[in-house]
Amino acid sequence: GETLRHAARGRFLVGAAVSSWGLNDPKVAGLVASQFDSLTAENEFKPASLSRQPGQYRFEAADRFVEFARAHDMKLVGHNLCWHSQAPAWLFRGQDNKPLPRDQALKNLKDHIDAVAGHFKGKVIGWDVVNEAISDAKDEYLRKTPALRAIGDDYIAKAFEFAHAADPGAELYYNDYSNENPVKREKTVRLVRELKAKGVRIDAVGMQCHFVLSDADAIDKLDQSIAAYAAEGVKVAITELDVDVLPRRGRVADIGALEKGGDNPYKEGLPPAVAEAQARFYARLFEVVLKRPGVVNRVTFWGVHDGASWLNGFPVRGRTNHPLLWDRQLKPKPAFGAVLDVL
Ligand code: XIL
Repeated sequence: GETLRHAARGRFLVGAAVSSWGLNDPKVAGLVASQFDSLTAENEFKPASLSRQPGQYRFEAADRFVEFARAHDMKLVGHNLCWHSQAPAWLFRGQDNKPLPRDQALKNLKDHIDAVAGHFKGKVIGWDVVNEAISDAKDEYLRKTPALRAIGDDYIAKAFEFAHAADPGAELYYNDYSNENPVKREKTVRLVRELKAKGVRIDAVGMQCHFVLSDADAIDKLDQSIAAYAAEGVKVAITELDVDVLPRRGRVADIGALEKGGDNPYKEGLPPAVAEAQARFYARLFEVVLKRPGVVNRVTFWGVHDGASWLNGFPVRGRTNHPLLWDRQLKPKPAFGAVLDVL
């Protein structure tokens, strides 16, 4: 039948993020290779996956993604070079867990980026250079990460400069969640302007787009944010798309409700009406993507089938979520057909 990668050809890349475990499953691997033309490793390129000790790197798991992408004529995206999560302590913290001196932290950041972007030079089309650096707090610009505490606000610009030096041919992205929302959108615009004012290369803003089906305004906000980023002279990549169908409340409330069995309503399967609502949500999103040709250059789904989605374990464990285009039996859901129809 018709495939996503064929339907979108010449307009934007359609990507999937998978884990090593997903790549090992022949049925999943078959879907990935036939439907998608871009690949992201769900964890295997992250700093903590590649290095436990200074100067010590293991690339075996990540290199399997390089080989898979090559074998199936897919583009490969690097995720990510600098993040406060899933990163080894040695990068920015001392034995006492306190921030390293600026010079040492900058050297560690450069060494890490040289090692990783150097290893994948010419093999990835681009890097999420910095992930999730903008604060969610209303009156705070940047998140107080270990990198920021050790280096200062300019750690972001430095990371982009190091990445460009290590692989001049790679596109460079700033990636974050909730950057469809106006408050974070404004901070993202500020960051793009500051980078450009310094002469730093940035090709695109990565919008994770971990959406929740009940958020009725999400697609309009996405539309406005794509326009805002395009006006700054950068492209947009949708980098981690999924549509959570479960209720989202505070962590603690969720755990209590989950224990009572009340917060996991679709254990036995997704009701057809919800599957249809999700299909319409995805269709509207792709209509927005197609509105501005050449602005959104990639749409990557954070997973292929519902059974392997990270949203079965986030924001609490033990959920039976249904965020993706294929169900647990690897059957296409209504959302798959709805996306193809829009393309
Ligand atoms: C998630 C992975 O999907 C999980 O397997 C892992 O346990 C935690 O990280 N934002 C990101 C991604 O940028 O790297 C995260 O991926 C999901 C949220």
